Amino acid sequence: MDGEVRINPYLAGNFAPVRSEDDFDLKVQGEIPSGLRGALFRIGPNPQFEPRDPANHHWFGGDGMVHGFYVADGKVSYRNRYCRTPKWELEHEHGRALFGSMGNPMTTDPLAQGNEGGTANTNILFHAGKLLALEEAHYPLQMDPRTLATIGYDREFQGKVTAHPKIDARTGEMAWFAYSVGPMPLSAGMSYGVTNADGSLKSRQDFQAPYSSMVHDFMVTQNHVLFPVLPLTGSLERAMGGRPPYAWEPEKGSYVGVMRRDADVSTIRWFNTEACYVFHPLNSWEEGGKIFCDVMRYDVAPLFPNADGSAGDKAAARLVRWTFDLDSASDAIKETPLDDIDGEFPRVDPRVETLKHRHGWYAADPSNSKTIRQTAIAHLDLQTGQRQLYELTGGDLTSEPVFVPRSADAPEGDGWLTAVVWRAAENRSDLLIFEALDLAKGPIATANMPRRMPFGFHGNWANLD
Ligand SMILES: [Fe+2]
Repeated sequence: MDGEVRINPYLAGNFAPVRSEDDFDLKVQGEIPSGLRGALFRIGPNPQFEPRDPANHHWFGGDGMVHGFYVADGKVSYRNRYCRTPKWELEHEHGRALFGSMGNPMTTDPLAQGNEGGTANTNILFHAGKLLALEEAHYPLQMDPRTLATIGYDREFQGKVTAHPKIDARTGEMAWFAYSVGPMPLSAGMSYGVTNADGSLKSRQDFQAPYSSMVHDFMVTQNHVLFPVLPLTGSLERAMGGRPPYAWEPEKGSYVGVMRRDADVSTIRWFNTEACYVFHPLNSWEEGGKIFCDVMRYDVAPLFPNADGSAGDKAAARLVRWTFDLDSASDAIKETPLDDIDGEFPRVDPRVETLKHRHGWYAADPSNSKTIRQTAIAHLDLQTGQRQLYELTGGDLTSEPVFVPRSADAPEGDGWLTAVVWRAAENRSDLLIFEALDLAKGPIATANMPRRMPFGFHGNWANLD
């Protein structure tokens, strides 16, 4: 439009990067439980420099920054550091952005050619004594859990890994996958892999999906693994024609590949359902020849355009249960609604991942506005069907909530819930700590940050002792 300056929303407000690396002792209101000891690590995109093509900058494309909240003896200290990927180091050396939006070669500086790249901005988790920062298309980036200094890419994975591995709490094994694997970008190639509890590689196998798709997350039960191939499709041909590399293409339908964890990828059975998108499952388990996956389901993929480049519809996710009947001749997925408000970033007690769960928590939008406005934190008791909300006020917005067990052998759900909340009026953030099964009474402790933490993606708790 004539004369109008459009600010990319992912570079404004609390999406805008914070470019300082700080160490703060946080002021605490209320009482931090003495049993709460360890660190909450959170991660999100935080571009080191102004993007080369600000109008087309995508939230997912910014350099990763890790935020560590260290809790002990009723006190909280905070530290944040960039994830110093090869991309970050090269751009730091030159003092400006060199990579195009999401690696777009059309807007990438020739100086970046041959650089391994990476943003490490999507998830941060602790496995086999390693703190790993993950994204969709590179090796996990190992970081020091105390100093948050970057150690480097963990080559043990023998290739790229996505941001959502699943740790089997019973065995300590970590199952993971990759998409767009192979020599050509935006391909239908995928990998499935397993890392042993000691961090060594157990297996990595490649297979072909029905079509190229952005496969953000997957599902794992005690004996099965499931790969959702949903029609947020990738197309090199489309990208070379100047249209979106990833786009919503509902006519392709939805597929979910199911295989036994101890089997070969050649045994994958493809179930199907109508076009939909899922960024995040809550959790999955199996019982009596059936697999159950509770997932945050969108009717339309959010945040991405249509295949012709036109803007996608506004969309929000709701929690549904997918049932896969392994004994049936039908490959249809049965779907049952579990909730009636919009949500994202669903989480369970990590000790029940791959097992049947009773409790789930998520960031919610009770006004069902179909925007990314997470104004509440929700707890859903799937045994009683009761939902509890802690609603924020004044435009404040929450991150993904992360559960911390009260002790290693406490019952499922017995513990605390952590969330980082942006205080809109003050443009500052707070760490909130709740009794996980009583959100409505409000936080039992709040640690005040002197500045804001930008909106990000995922976090995990780690006992560091
Ligand atoms: Fe995610």
